[in-house]
Amino acid sequence: MANHRHVDINSTPIWAKLHQHQRATCHMHMRDLFDTDPHRFQRFSLELDGLLLDYSKNRITERTLELLFDLADAADLKGWMQKMRSGERINVSENRSVLHTGLRLPVDAALSVDGRDVVADVHAVLQRLKVFTDKVRDGQWQGFAGAPIRDVVNLGIGGSDLGPLVVKEALSAYAHPDLNVHFVSNVDGQHLARTLERLDPATTLFIIASKSFTTPETLLNAQAARVWFLREASEVDIARHFVAVSTNEAAVKAFGIDPEHMFGFWDWVGGRYSVWSAIGLPVMLSIGFDNFRAFLDGGHAMDRHFFDSPFASNMPVLMALIGIWYNTFYQAHTHAIMPYDHGLRRLPAHIQQLDMESNGKRVGRNGEALDFDTGPVIWGEEGANSQHAFFQLLHQGTRLVPCDFILPLNSHYPLGNQHDVLVANCLAQTEALMRGKGEAEVMRELSQLSGEQLDMLLPQKLFPGNQPSNTLALDKVTPYSVGMLMALYEHKVFVQGVIWGINSFDQWGVEYGKQLARRILPELSDAVDALAHDSSTNGLIRHYRERHGK
Ligand code: F6P
Repeated sequence: MANHRHVDINSTPIWAKLHQHQRATCHMHMRDLFDTDPHRFQRFSLELDGLLLDYSKNRITERTLELLFDLADAADLKGWMQKMRSGERINVSENRSVLHTGLRLPVDAALSVDGRDVVADVHAVLQRLKVFTDKVRDGQWQGFAGAPIRDVVNLGIGGSDLGPLVVKEALSAYAHPDLNVHFVSNVDGQHLARTLERLDPATTLFIIASKSFTTPETLLNAQAARVWFLREASEVDIARHFVAVSTNEAAVKAFGIDPEHMFGFWDWVGGRYSVWSAIGLPVMLSIGFDNFRAFLDGGHAMDRHFFDSPFASNMPVLMALIGIWYNTFYQAHTHAIMPYDHGLRRLPAHIQQLDMESNGKRVGRNGEALDFDTGPVIWGEEGANSQHAFFQLLHQGTRLVPCDFILPLNSHYPLGNQHDVLVANCLAQTEALMRGKGEAEVMRELSQLSGEQLDMLLPQKLFPGNQPSNTLALDKVTPYSVGMLMALYEHKVFVQGVIWGINSFDQWGVEYGKQLARRILPELSDAVDALAHDSSTNGLIRHYRERHGK
């Protein structure tokens, strides 16, 4: 296993310099920065293929960025970018390359790793997916009763669910009109039962999506789906109604799926980065193969931008460094993401998994303890709904919450002037968060009041402002722009991981809960009394058994 050169990033002189710079500039108000520089927007924004990043509403100056670029150099960011691009095994704890960028390469690109032609392997699977997708979409692939497929149910969880779900939802304007794609992830029976109650087995196709093909939630749902299917069909019909997406051919076979109906991918694709692989099958079925290719092309355009642009004009690098500025040097603990687009409403959940499973770590890539905060808590909700839910805290609460606003400029569903209203709301929020509302303005609004009433109301109506945000404005939600957006966040997370010295590509933290669940499961039904947990867990197990008459 490679042991990469270790930099104690918080012992570097640039780390200390950034702390000093934060102390020297933290009293600066963004309102004043805008008032003194009419060109701030031009200086702190950049555009790539119809995706504009406005990062001017941040507590930064050019000096802040210079120092952050030095921090990136101290962590050898360029070196790590090159290692990832060329397929070095940078996922050290699992001894794997990290090559989701390879999934987005065009057919004429060249990339070989360990003697294998990655591009040829990727495109061979894409070709099989295209043939299958076309057949299902044009009705040639028929169910056991001779009717075309009308419903597709993706059974998967985590990265085998969220990525494709977000992209499929985002691109509903491109969806096949007669093919409904559903996602069932939770082992809670109601998720599958409620989905299946509306479906006909004769026209339903199941995709069992699991990189490992050992995830209990997914396999239990797959077994239950099979039982439901076999109520009206027979074993031989399974071949036309169940396909698998996995890296584990043996387990797929053992489940009873012919490898001919399996689409593979590789251990160098992390679950949360897998929507670009065969895990994207439900998206392909919904929007068609050519649109899926456009999604890959959008991702690839972002990859080239990321790998080839200098830090000062590199979107993922800028977003990552500004994130580190708040997270590390301002000790902001969370980061909110608000897509002003109903189709993108689950994007915060996907980025939450992407970021928190990648960088939610307390140990560096070589096993050393990190004595500074790493990945933030990522959360968010679609706008304008979020304004009526948690924006009160953003405007007048006590915490620093950096935000990303994601704003499509054109709607696929124009309805009167509703899109203008949505855009106005989004821009108003970023302006209000930045500018705030000072005493003079509030006094003018309260000019009718005086005395105690004024004293009581005035502070309640003040907005401190200085709350930072990025705005990502995309011309329209298209396969290409969604591809760019998703790849942008992937690279942002990678850059932050590099600077903190983290391996962003493993996820040992989810294993322990799985182990304990395996131990507790039999204890829920067997009246084993020698429970050896803490008193709370023992008490809850007994309480469950009592309620179930055990
Ligand atoms: O929650 C951990 C995790 O391993 C994720 O990283 C992954 O996307 C998910 O479980 C599902 O795993 P699989 O695709 O192997 O079923």
